[in-house]
Amino acid sequence: MMIFKSRILCFLFFLGITNTLWYCTPEKKAVVKSETINDTTWWKEGTIYQIYPRSFRDSDGDGIGDLKGIIERLDYIKSLGVDVIWLNPIYTSPNDDNGYDISDYRNIMKEFGTMEDFDALLKGMHDRGIKFVMDVVVNHSSDEHEWFKQSRSSRDNPYRDYYHWWPAEKGKPTPRWSFFDDKGDAWKYDSITDSYYLHYFSQKQPDLNWENPKVRQEVYDIMKFWADKGVDGFRLDAFQYVSKDITFPEFPEGYEKNINKYYGMGPHLHKYLKEMYTEVLSKYDVFAVAEGAGTTFDDAHSLVDKEHNELQMVYHFEGTNVGSSLEGYELSEFKEVFTEWDSAFSKKGWISVYLANHDQPRMVSKYGSANPEYRAVSSKLLNTFILSMRGTPYVYYGDELGMTNIGFDSISQYKDIAAINGYKKAEAEGEDMDKFLKTLKFLSRDNGRTPMQWESSENAGFTSGTPWLPVNENHESINVAAQDKDPNSVLNYFRSMVKLRKENPVLIYGDYKLLQPEHPDVYAYTRTLDDKKVVVVLNFTDHDSSIQLVEAKNAVHTPLINNYENVTIKDDEIIVKPYQAVIFALQE
Ligand code: GLC
Repeated sequence: MMIFKSRILCFLFFLGITNTLWYCTPEKKAVVKSETINDTTWWKEGTIYQIYPRSFRDSDGDGIGDLKGIIERLDYIKSLGVDVIWLNPIYTSPNDDNGYDISDYRNIMKEFGTMEDFDALLKGMHDRGIKFVMDVVVNHSSDEHEWFKQSRSSRDNPYRDYYHWWPAEKGKPTPRWSFFDDKGDAWKYDSITDSYYLHYFSQKQPDLNWENPKVRQEVYDIMKFWADKGVDGFRLDAFQYVSKDITFPEFPEGYEKNINKYYGMGPHLHKYLKEMYTEVLSKYDVFAVAEGAGTTFDDAHSLVDKEHNELQMVYHFEGTNVGSSLEGYELSEFKEVFTEWDSAFSKKGWISVYLANHDQPRMVSKYGSANPEYRAVSSKLLNTFILSMRGTPYVYYGDELGMTNIGFDSISQYKDIAAINGYKKAEAEGEDMDKFLKTLKFLSRDNGRTPMQWESSENAGFTSGTPWLPVNENHESINVAAQDKDPNSVLNYFRSMVKLRKENPVLIYGDYKLLQPEHPDVYAYTRTLDDKKVVVVLNFTDHDSSIQLVEAKNAVHTPLINNYENVTIKDDEIIVKPYQAVIFALQE
């Protein structure tokens, strides 16, 4: 089993319905019974739309997106054809890490609204046939959570063992690296009890002690509270880190460069996940996806294969690790990573497919071209890719429009703790700060967090106040209102692609086969399910190209989808324009 390549950027990485399947093709609307798929379910078939609530729509003019704002835009979301919404955390939080530091797991963040708003939002989704995934952040809480306030108050407080403490009389704790600390130190000294506490993320995100059964029971009770309200799924944040060897052994020098190997897949992780499955997941029609999946395909399978009764879907980092540097990426590596993941999961287990999220820059800036000449067409290509691979597609808000990086020049413009503390650390360590800022400008998380672009008006119709993070100036041309009216827009192409996937189970469950792995420009593959076969041809470059494929001879010349008006096929050669994306049905 291959070990995943580790390309970790320190500051960024943390940086069956039944046993049969029915499908219809758009041309014939024929209903066909699949002989090969016997493990179908809604969370494999749906397209997931991820919303960063802070940036989607502000209904009350405070500059921060909120739940009522999302309610206002549910019809828009429905119009996309997506089936599931994942919201980043909406719980009460002091917002050291924008909601990933929770101080009350049973309440809604003031800026986002009230529990009544949440209930109305969930009902609004369900009324429209949209399911909801809740972000669960329980590797750590906020230091303002009542548990932590109690825990730090005295060494014999009943909540002391809810967190990891190291008494100062034992000397300095064994070093542990922190993702967000400005010194990179995961131990923070606390004078109240003359002890250090552990925080893998910021100082305000103390790690919960999962070795304590009471902590685990608290978490299951919280999950049940939300499942009883009707949520349909859970996204488990940083979950591979929860179980720790609490003897805190020394790690070898440089371990932080391969952090998941040392922090991930702790000694009792499987035991805790089985417990969570028994206590919570098995009792509801919900699925759970864990952020991160260990360091080998075996690890990933051990977390999600059905017979283990743990989680249901892998969300890996390998795809978005490609291209996480100023040098850009090689198409060969991109193909290799996605192909290896597909083949590792072709018989068993289930993965997700995504190119962006709230921890990443905008996908078109990273994998396509933000240049106005190619922005729209390359956004369409990337959406074609996500929606034509095997695995549940996760689409990040704004990518249906082709929103781009904002690209800040000065550290004073950033709001993200990872950027701000990463900068301080790099400066203290004497790094080349010009290069650091250039990297941040291209790869920072704030690039992907700018407000949703609804209209061309001031602040893009996101807020009537001052947005918490600036709106990208290109909202004057890139926005929902303009694209809604334009039949050739990225938005309307996205809707067609979502529909195509939904109507063609070959795009959901079909076997994937990479064609011409060595082709330098074109990423081509087939998807096959029973007697249905399609070929996907994607030119990832800004120049004309062509590819010879035996499949071309059987291609139905009117493509199922095409981001240009035409495509040329001559015998076995398919000639493609810059960033052209086209899917053909193949005749038998
Ligand atoms: C996960 C989240 C990220 C957050 C971190 C700490 O990686 O995706 O946004 O900062 O965990 O909770």
